[in-house]
Amino acid sequence: MSSITEQLIGEYFATGTLAGLPSGHFIDGKSRPAATGRTMETFDPGTTKVFAQFAAGDAEDVEAAVASSDRAFRDCWRKVAPAERGRILQRAAEGIRANAERLAVVETLDNGKSLAEAQGDIRSAARLFEYYAGAADKLQGETIPLGMDYLSYTSLEPVGVTAHIIPWNYPTSTMVRGIAPALAAGCTVVVKPAEQTPLTALMLAEILRDAGLPDGVCNVLTGTGTAVGAPLVAHAKVRHITFTGSVNTGSLVMQAAARNITSVTLELGGKSPAVMLADCDIDAAVEDVLWAIFSNSGQTCSAGSRLVIERSIHAEFVERLAARTRKLSFGHGLRNPEIGAISSQEQLNKIAGYVDEAKSRGVRVAVGGSRTVDQASGSGWFFQPTILDDVGPLDVVVQEEIFGPVLSVQIADSAEQALELANGTAFGLAAGIYTRDIKKALRLARDIDAGQIYINEYYAGGVETPFGGNKLSGFGREKGLEGLRAYCRVKSVTARI
Ligand code: NAI
Ligand code: MG
Repeated sequence: MSSITEQLIGEYFATGTLAGLPSGHFIDGKSRPAATGRTMETFDPGTTKVFAQFAAGDAEDVEAAVASSDRAFRDCWRKVAPAERGRILQRAAEGIRANAERLAVVETLDNGKSLAEAQGDIRSAARLFEYYAGAADKLQGETIPLGMDYLSYTSLEPVGVTAHIIPWNYPTSTMVRGIAPALAAGCTVVVKPAEQTPLTALMLAEILRDAGLPDGVCNVLTGTGTAVGAPLVAHAKVRHITFTGSVNTGSLVMQAAARNITSVTLELGGKSPAVMLADCDIDAAVEDVLWAIFSNSGQTCSAGSRLVIERSIHAEFVERLAARTRKLSFGHGLRNPEIGAISSQEQLNKIAGYVDEAKSRGVRVAVGGSRTVDQASGSGWFFQPTILDDVGPLDVVVQEEIFGPVLSVQIADSAEQALELANGTAFGLAAGIYTRDIKKALRLARDIDAGQIYINEYYAGGVETPFGGNKLSGFGREKGLEGLRAYCRVKSVTARI
């Protein structure tokens, strides 16, 4: 561990906070308090204690931020040469790397995840800026052949002001996978981080300013979904909304957008299966399924929250997975355990509710099943990594997103039944396929209704790989070159010559 990280950890455990945390909205290049002067508190899930305050915004702040982003779009950012936009984004990547240790510690405190996970999220944010920096000057149109008497071409224009509503599970990386392509395309952005995890978004806005991003191009507003998110997504000057979060809120966002005919990208929940065929490599697959569900304490939209497994290997597999699960270390994120805290009391209650009800229905708990605390301090919001075994296809723990460290196991009697079970929910975000037979794998990849398929490695892919859902998991794709589309409009120009 480096000295900067050690110093920050020492400061936090000695004082219960960190000096110099941002606390105001970030509007027009400056930090400013809420118009009402009101503030909210953010909690460290590893201790359940408040460690910072931030602005509790409302519609007046939304108005100021959208006006600023609209001015910055019209007068400035869309006129900046694409190559120069790319240079600024490249410097943003460097700025994130230069501030990575502090960003990761703050992310851990705000969210509860382990420091190593937060460091991974920050690395991926830097990589996203780097990737889209290189795309800024490659958004080319086409010429359309209409014969000798016409010249017809298309160009890609930025859509304008874009709103980004961010959840609390991956605050930095989710924000950046939306704003990096938006900025590369020439759009301006107004970001609303989750009220549970507002701090790194504010820090990123400062890093972008220091990288040379003009004032107003990236504004960040903090506060609740009702007070800030709702007026932001209902604003007529917002021309695209990128939302990541729950299905219910996503539906409300889409309804608000419909009134202004504003386009939306919705990254919603999931109930993604890891499909385990009898001929898989069990040693590798046990470790893979473990992290597919338990990384980030299961608070991952694309988590492998179901294991669909052929009967012949079921007993051995679950036994080995349960043994491995029992050995996982958990605790305060800054002590860098394998598993961190649950991000909020509300989320912990939701997880515990699902598991308690499953137990009372008689579902077999192979391991875990209860709330717990950080053994070092006796506090914190924690839930034991849990495996619910041999669950029926219509059980709520198979059908509904729990968003916690809870794996539901479903037994299949054939590869055909495995496919049926895999597709048997209202979601369609991701699926893992485990088999040594590439033909079987590719057939399942063809037939599973999901936005991403991982063969023999869950979460395989990078910032280059498009990501998004089908069915209730939403629509639109982020990451990769696909991720630029939402922020560009095609214009065709045709002249008779
Ligand atoms: P949520 O969808 O309500 O919150 C996500 C973001 O939307 C937050 O920034 C929130 O302030 C904002 N928001 C809330 N109401 C809004 C509105 N009317 N207009 C605009 N923005 C609004 O999710 P919440 O309550 O934090 O979590 C509930 C469940 O949602 C979780 O248990 C989990 O199942 C799911 N979820 C899924 C995520 C994913 O990655 N797909 C991320 C977070 C939650
Ligand atoms: Mg917090």
